[in-house]
Formats: sequence, C-alpha cells, structure tokens
Amino acid sequence: MTGTGHASMRIDTAAGSILCDPWVNPAYFASWFPFPDNSQLDWETLGQVDYLYVSHLHRDHFDAEHLRRFVSKKATVLLPEYPTSQLEDELRDLGFTSFLKTKSNEVHELDGGLKVMIQALISPTDGPIGDSSLWVEHDGIRVLNQNDARPTDLSTFAELGHVHAHMLQFSGAIWYPMVYELPESAKRAFGKQKRDRQFDRTWRYIDDLKASHVFPIAGPPCFLDDELWQFNDIFGDEGNIFPDQAVFQREYAKVGGTNGIVLLPGSVTELTADSAQTSHPTDVDEFFANKQVHLEEMRVRKAPVIAAEKASWRHPEIDVLGELKKRIEPLLEESIYLAKGVGGPVRFDLVSYDGESVESIVVDFPGKQVRAYADEKVRYRFRTQRELIEHLIFIDEGDWVNSLFLSCRFSAARIGQYNEFVYAFFKCLSEERLQYAEGWYDEHEKTVEAEDTVFGDWTVQRRCPHLKADLSRFGIVEGDVLTCQLHGWKFDLPSGRCLTSVGHKIRAAKKTS
Ligand code: FES
Repeated sequence: MTGTGHASMRIDTAAGSILCDPWVNPAYFASWFPFPDNSQLDWETLGQVDYLYVSHLHRDHFDAEHLRRFVSKKATVLLPEYPTSQLEDELRDLGFTSFLKTKSNEVHELDGGLKVMIQALISPTDGPIGDSSLWVEHDGIRVLNQNDARPTDLSTFAELGHVHAHMLQFSGAIWYPMVYELPESAKRAFGKQKRDRQFDRTWRYIDDLKASHVFPIAGPPCFLDDELWQFNDIFGDEGNIFPDQAVFQREYAKVGGTNGIVLLPGSVTELTADSAQTSHPTDVDEFFANKQVHLEEMRVRKAPVIAAEKASWRHPEIDVLGELKKRIEPLLEESIYLAKGVGGPVRFDLVSYDGESVESIVVDFPGKQVRAYADEKVRYRFRTQRELIEHLIFIDEGDWVNSLFLSCRFSAARIGQYNEFVYAFFKCLSEERLQYAEGWYDEHEKTVEAEDTVFGDWTVQRRCPHLKADLSRFGIVEGDVLTCQLHGWKFDLPSGRCLTSVGHKIRAAKKTS
C-alpha cells in the first residue's frame, strides 16, 4: 500500500492495483490543500492502475482535473451503489468507460482472486448524498479503507474475517465551530468538545474492527490562504478541530493504541498476515515536528494557484437575487420535509467586492420565496462574499455544502439548535437531489423504531433518531442525558427531546420500581 496523501492510497496486489481517491488540486474555493503536499509524487506512474475507486463526490476525494490528466482511462471504476448517477456521470465525462457497478455490502470477485466489497451510505447527510468504504481481500490479506464514511457499525466487514489494515478518518472536515460568530472562549470550548468527540468515535471504530494495523487517513487538509491560515493546527489551540496524524499517534497511545501507522505521500507498507513493514520518504516524526515550516513553504509555492482561483470567481453581470429566485423557488415549492425541517427564513448577507456594501437575501422556507431581507427575525444567517455566490450560480452548483460551506469562507449565526435540514436543503439544489432527499425523509418519518436497549434504569429505542446508530454500542448515558457517539448528538431522556438539533425525538422510559 502506497500513501498518496489525504484519503488517497494505492493498493497493489498480485491480482491488480487499485487507486483510491487521488486528490491533489485545491478544493472548495482554493481553501483546502492536501497536507503533506503530494503534488511531487510520480502521478504518471501511480495513475497506471487496473482499478479506480472514488469513494464519493466531495472535492477532496473527487479531483476531476487530476483524474482527467493522470489516471488511466483503461482502469475499471469500482462504483459504489448510490441512489443518484452523479458520480458515474462525472467519471464518464472524464473519459472512464469501464465500470463495475457494485452492490452495497456484497463481495465481488475480480480476476486473479481479488475480492472487493463497497458499503454505500446513502442518507442525505452522508457526504454529498453518499459516502462509502472499500473492503479488499487478496490471498487472505484484508484491508478496510473506511475513508471518512460513518457506518453505524463495522460488523458487515468484521464478519468477512480478520482485517489486517484499517484506514479511517480521525480529524475534522467541517466548518463547525470556527465560522460561527461566537465569543472566542465559546468557540474554543465547542471546538475542544468536537475534537474529543472525533477521537472518541475513531477509538470506537478501531475497537469494533480490531484490525492488526490502523492507518489515520482522510485529513486534515491544510489552509494556505491568509484568510484561513488560522485553521491550521499549529497554534497549540486545544479547540482546533484539525489535529494531524502525529497528534493521532499521541492520543492513540494514551488509550493504549500501539498499532498506528502514519503514511506520508510516498510511504509504502508491505502488508502480510502477520506484519506491516513501512518505509517512508523522510522521517515521519521530524516531518511533523517541522510542520509549520512545511506549511510556510507550501503557502509560498501555492500562492499563485490561490490567486488564479480567486480571479475566476467574479461574475458582476449576474443578478444574484433574480437567479436565486429562479433556481430555488421551484425547489421550495416541492419541498415538504426539508422546508418543514428548516421551519423559518434563512438569510444570506453578501458582501460586495469592495467589502463595503452588503446585500441581504432571504430564503423564506415557510413563505416558499427568495426575496430581499425585510428586517425580520431569521433562524440562520450566513455572511459571505458576493463573488462566491456569483460563481456558484455561474457553474450551476447543485451542492453548496460541497462548495461554499466546506470552503469555510463564510461566517454564520443561528438562533437555537443546529438544524441539519438547512444544510441538507442547500446540498440539494437540483431536482434529482431534492426528490431523493424528500423521499428519504418520507420513508424515515414513517419508520417505527420498535427495538429497545437498556441503560441502567432507562429503556431507550435502540436506533439513534439521527442516523440510526446502534445505541447499545454508541450510546452513553450521563445523568438524564444520552449521547450518541457517532456524531455526538445529545438527548434529554425524561422529555425525549433532542438537545442538538430540532426534531429527532427519542423514545425513552424509566423503570418506576
Ligand atoms: S447517528 Fe448521528 S448522532 Fe446518532
């Protein structure tokens, strides 16, 4: 297995090679770059593979420019079973013609005895509607590239036999809490909670699978634009949600972990049933000890790339309010669950090129309208540069999470709890996506949660009201509050109320005798 940066790796076996999620070019309005820098790898050679696996469409996993240029179009794509055809369509557009359309959770046997299984997660909150993990077996050696997917548990993989290498995410990949307009101390406290929760979830997965070796992958990215530089974890801030692989190793050791292996771009692990021999292009500890120097060098190297990206955003000819009306109002009209879930107006403050004037636009979910802000109370407010929205309109972007929000180039304020429907809606700015999400919620609203689990005196529904995690494994109860460790949502057991987001009531009863 060769580390190729971020969530990317190349797996070579006697029966063929698989390249996973190659990402080199900056993503999300030039906010995210792979760290350590992987642009110097011999991609011409790495791209000559038998199979390509793109786990999902997030831009730090699906790098269209790189795939077009460097990956052999003779490669067979191992395609996750997603409800929409967008991933396949995009790959076909890039010139790939050979596809193995896998069935989720089914083992597929390829030439030479290579076996693969892809588990596709398909809720509207999984990745950009879809995230997946790849399991590979050859000659009795098993690898799970869990990627940044969050399955409710790993039993489907564990049942296929002992796994020798488990690759999984451990760091943050979100805008929370950094972009929120909160006092610094509150932001730090929320960030620390989030950082702890990320590690707890990682330990839980590692413990579930009990693989021989664990590889921390899929982040963190680095931020090279001056406006975002503070998000890099180089300031000793315990509220930073982007700890790196060296921090992973330290934290893992604290919970008794001794089998972690960090792959730098270009590191190679030879995996056998009872060993993992790894060679690195440079000393790993020394590399991370000098992280700041490496980042500073990258910042200089990549400055022209950022400048070129920035120069492409402006489209002053676009009437932003008019275009948003045209695109979003028909979707509001069709939306039942998402619109009800958002439940109020959402305001966008667009800052002009000169940074002086601001245009306020409201997406009014109950009123099914996009209009100028009318001095009303709003549930969510976002503030961003007008040119970013112009660019989204120009490229007809159907997923603002996979573009604007992940860029972290905005600030946000909200009244009350986190509302997943706000982001689910802005992820679904196309007919196909919206219909899918509406259908998914429709089905889930109707699902009766019949199975129970017990915590001391409390009998609680077994599946988490958020995304169905098994609470007998992921739940912990402290006092009267249950926390589901998969995404850290909290529930007040006496009332059943979700303390993290609107809706999502839990069924719970206390023994009376
Ligand atoms: S499944 Fe997401 S918090 Fe429980």
